[in-house]
Amino acid sequence: MHILVTGASRGIGRACARRFAREGHRVAAVARTAEQLRDLAAEAPLIEPWVADLRSDTVTGHFDVVVLNAGQYTPGRLIDVASDVFADMWELNVLANHRLARRLLPPMIERKRGHLVVIGSTATDAAMPHMTAYAATKKALRGLWEGWAQDLEGTGVRTTLVAPGATLTDSWKHETPPARILAPEAVADLVYRVIAEGLTGRRVIRAD
Ligand SMILES: NC(=O)c1ccc[n+]([C@@H]2O[C@H](COP(=O)([O-])OP(=O)(O)OC[C@H]3O[C@@H](n4cnc5c(N)ncnc54)[C@H](OP(=O)(O)O)[C@@H]3O)[C@@H](O)[C@H]2O)c1
Repeated sequence: MHILVTGASRGIGRACARRFAREGHRVAAVARTAEQLRDLAAEAPLIEPWVADLRSDTVTGHFDVVVLNAGQYTPGRLIDVASDVFADMWELNVLANHRLARRLLPPMIERKRGHLVVIGSTATDAAMPHMTAYAATKKALRGLWEGWAQDLEGTGVRTTLVAPGATLTDSWKHETPPARILAPEAVADLVYRVIAEGLTGRRVIRAD
């Protein structure tokens, strides 16, 4: 299969790219940092680096699987986070994914097959007082995914929302991570299972 993973230079996206390549799939790995993508591609020849800033660049093509993973986590309450910081998060977590889906879903629909995986968050479930701004963007993304699930009904194209709890990545560089935390590889294992077993719906994964 040919698989597109956004935000593949670090964290959950990198673990997903590695996992798919290990299973023999070609992976288009999208992120801004060329050096990290080059290192990743050096590890696994099936990984094709694709340097792009999803806030402005066009990423398009025909893929069997698309994993919309790139995201920004800036901690803070909605009433504290500056509007330009919120807009930055909104642009990547919401609008960039909307643009990508509009480009990447039509070729799948035409071929009547494919799988769109969206990386959400358990931040949409519970009141998390220190991250209400981020949670608002992830709730909007969940809303988009619900819309895509409806739009894709009867087309042959599947979609799944994978919602991880806290996962040990650079997202936590400004905060103390909780004691119970997922490894990015555990999320990648679930994403792989979603594709291998054709799982749809919302799939939550937590450390506890
Ligand atoms: N970590 C957690 O606790 C956790 C929990 C639940 C959900 N999530 C979700 O999981 C996803 C991945 O999170 P993570 O923790 O793995 O994040 P991360 O370690 O900060 O990595 C984010 C990835 O997105 C890429 N990225 C950021 N801005 C980009 C842009 N403008 N254009 C293209 N790529 C961009 C980064 O690469 P470059 O900087 O090289 O561009 C990097 O590869 C996010 O959607 C996040 O909301 C994370």
